[in-house]
Amino acid sequence: MSPRHDEPDDLPSLTALTSAVASFTQASPARMYNYYLGGGDHYEIDRTAAHQVMAAAGGDNITRVARANLQFAGRAAAWAVTKIASSLVLDIGVGLVDDLPIPNLYEAVHEANREATLVGFDYDPIVVTHGRARGYTEVLSGDVRDIDAMLDHPDLAKLGKRVNLGQPTVAVLAAVLHFVGDDEDPARVLIRLHERLPADSALVFSHACSTQIDADTVAGMERGYDKARSQITFRSEEQIDALLNDAGWTPGMPLVDVERWAPPGEVAEQRDKPDPVTSVRCIGTVAFSSKAAA
Ligand SMILES: C[S@@+](CC[C@H](N)C(=O)[O-])C[C@H]1O[C@@H](n2cnc3c(N)ncnc32)[C@H](O)[C@@H]1O
Repeated sequence: MSPRHDEPDDLPSLTALTSAVASFTQASPARMYNYYLGGGDHYEIDRTAAHQVMAAAGGDNITRVARANLQFAGRAAAWAVTKIASSLVLDIGVGLVDDLPIPNLYEAVHEANREATLVGFDYDPIVVTHGRARGYTEVLSGDVRDIDAMLDHPDLAKLGKRVNLGQPTVAVLAAVLHFVGDDEDPARVLIRLHERLPADSALVFSHACSTQIDADTVAGMERGYDKARSQITFRSEEQIDALLNDAGWTPGMPLVDVERWAPPGEVAEQRDKPDPVTSVRCIGTVAFSSKAAA
């Protein structure tokens, strides 16, 4: 059937509308994270869920680990851009982090490479809108569970030569994959990302970790996300390491608590830092595509 001439052709899609409605009727992982960090971008529904998580793990601990994760993501991405001489960063799961006194990922990356192109993706429409106003070249709507749809987004092509997926690329998946449940195939996310990005690419990665944490504490934090748009799955050190390695992403350095991560050469400075908290853990690394070694 041909479209009627009086129908506007720019109506939002049903998916976009559903997503926008969900962002006001369910707690949002992005706004909960902003609340942990001490930002101002959250609603009552987010704070209620966040308080449940904070009650399970201790509010100060959650805040400290969230801030350490944000700093890790920026420092690690800046280091990776230099290490692989990349001018393209794909930040998947950008977050709402622009109202904080902590250097943001795009600021850290631009300090390392002023010419770098930063493309963000997020499934939360509020994040996409916020991100567009900040230092990213572009922030697009995308769901990490569908890497192909994300990398084939028609608006990526509009960025022309600035986005060349044939060149070494830094992908960032910081504190995002734990929002992909075991029944949603988190392994496939990493496998497709590895298959689609060229050799010499790097992955900045962090994930909520259950190892050394009391099982009741983990269960309490997971329950806090029961009514959120996505639930959270804490995974063990072994599970996280296997997810990366099995997909072809070889950690360049062992997974460590994000508070302890430092670029190679800066290890001594880290020795003075306090032990990571033990009621909530997020571990991270920079991994490299095994295609380079093949
Ligand atoms: C905890 S925040 C992390 C933000 C940032 N990466 C950082 O580490 O500071 C998680 C982000 O991932 C996004 N997210 C969660 N599930 C997602 C999905 N399936 N697809 C795309 N983004 C997702 C959330 O909207 C949120 O912005």
